[in-house]
Amino acid sequence: MRLIHSKYQRPEKISFCQKYFKWFLWFSLSLYFFTSFLINHPDNPKPRLTATSLPKTSVSRALFESVNITEQKSDKDLKTLNGLKIYVYDLPSKYNVAWLSNKRCSNHLFASEVAIHRALLESDVRTLNPWEADFFFVPVYVSCNFSTSNGFPAIGHARSLMSSAVKLVSETMPFWNRSHGSDHVFVASHDYGACFHAMEDAAMADGIPSFLKNSVILQTFGVKYNHPCQDVENVVIPPYVSPESVRNALESAPANEGRDIWIFFRGKMEVHPKNISGRYYSKQVRTNIWRRYSGNRKFYLQRHRFPGYLSEIVRSTFCLCPLGWAPWSPRLVESVVLGCVPVIIADGIRLPFSDAVKWREISVTVAESDVGRLEKILDHVAKSNLSTIQKNLWDPEVRKALLFNYRVQQGDATWHVQYALSRKMDRSHSKNRVSGKLKSDA
Ligand SMILES: *[C@@H]1O[C@H](CO)[C@@H](O)[C@H](O)[C@H]1NC(C)=O
Ligand SMILES: *[C@@H]1O[C@H](CO)[C@@H](O)[C@H](O)[C@H]1NC(C)=O
Ligand SMILES: *[C@@H]1O[C@H](CO)[C@@H](O)[C@H](O)[C@H]1NC(C)=O
Ligand SMILES: *[C@@H]1O[C@H](CO)[C@@H](O)[C@H](O)[C@H]1NC(C)=O
Ligand SMILES: *[C@@H]1O[C@H](CO)[C@@H](O)[C@H](O)[C@H]1NC(C)=O
Repeated sequence: MRLIHSKYQRPEKISFCQKYFKWFLWFSLSLYFFTSFLINHPDNPKPRLTATSLPKTSVSRALFESVNITEQKSDKDLKTLNGLKIYVYDLPSKYNVAWLSNKRCSNHLFASEVAIHRALLESDVRTLNPWEADFFFVPVYVSCNFSTSNGFPAIGHARSLMSSAVKLVSETMPFWNRSHGSDHVFVASHDYGACFHAMEDAAMADGIPSFLKNSVILQTFGVKYNHPCQDVENVVIPPYVSPESVRNALESAPANEGRDIWIFFRGKMEVHPKNISGRYYSKQVRTNIWRRYSGNRKFYLQRHRFPGYLSEIVRSTFCLCPLGWAPWSPRLVESVVLGCVPVIIADGIRLPFSDAVKWREISVTVAESDVGRLEKILDHVAKSNLSTIQKNLWDPEVRKALLFNYRVQQGDATWHVQYALSRKMDRSHSKNRVSGKLKSDA
């Protein structure tokens, strides 16, 4: 607050009234959810209840303490999941855990490939008997080769690593050949999913390798129109954001402050966008945001990397989530779990777990061609339904659905992956064989 306030005083008109109004709203909402939380879960240890710590601690507790309550539900859970059973291949370490020698491997935005693998190993739905499995998880970490100078992973080796894993499982066990891979599950968590290329035109030209075309791909990439990089059975999953970093950001947030940043964005915004074989980063949307609003005091726009940026999101009311090269970004998750209203600027994006997460109710969508009117649009939202959106955003279930935990928790991101698979049982060899047998027996 100090930092921002000295540099960015909001315009007189909104600053005084709105600031305290928002504060009041924040406080009453928190109180409301906090009390309903206590009523619903009376046997939980009582959190510290001081006026100053109230808003923030209630958020983090609602998010993390719901764990204990839901763990007891696991019988019901198995029913919800249709008796799903997943076999996890035990591949040589060069396909996965050997990459973990680089610490970043399990923590960066593509790390769902690591998180899902870990969580499945401990999951109730894991089976050690491949003959009774409905699905076969093939754990290959392709996003951990941080060899490029800009710090992003090189994925040039992804196709050959995947293909060698498929060769291995198909030659050593009978399950791949039996189904031609249709009950096999892979994670492809970078820009254009199983196209394994960071640039859209190259990704589209390469397409999804034929050996993966029959399988189920868990991917961060998704659009509502036809695209060669999602031309496969797929589930759109959230980008990886570490639950610890979220918890730290929530807990280290100054206890007695409201959200003092109105509209936040930190990330690459090119002042003079480069023409890269006919394409521009972010289709120039970010450049337009910078050009139009960098001098506007309602906007807190930063072009440089800052490791502590989650603490800025906690302090923000609106968080811009414009496309980069791909439509998705980790900001979608970071904003939601830190209670900042995501402003999604990525035409046609297909969002993660859209059946469970009611994105329309917890976010604002702005067309790419409308970024010039961002200020007006958000002013309008502030006057009409900002408090409704913030209230929806407060739902702990929503936040939980977007985070991958070390161990699966009911309703978390890996659980939703399991749920999505349990709705694809027509691909299960063992279930279809059993029901076929039962039918012929009858
Ligand atoms: C679950 O409950 C136990 C004691 O009842 C507590 O020690 C633990 O921290 C709780 N776990 C979470 C994640 O809140
Ligand atoms: C890592 O990426 C670099 C650059 O693309 C590539 O030369 C190298 O073979 C990759 N490493 C592995 C182990 O695949
Ligand atoms: C699966 O099919 C491939 C190609 O036809 C073959 O090379 C492989 O040996 C088969 N795997 C098994 C376990 O029979
Ligand atoms: C951008 O580059 C492509 C070739 O890479 C060229 O055809 C196109 O005219 C360029 N566009 C502009 C606006 O310079
Ligand atoms: C908020 O209002 C905008 C129009 O200003 C509308 O598009 C949006 O759906 C509303 N959101 C909610 C959650 O009510």
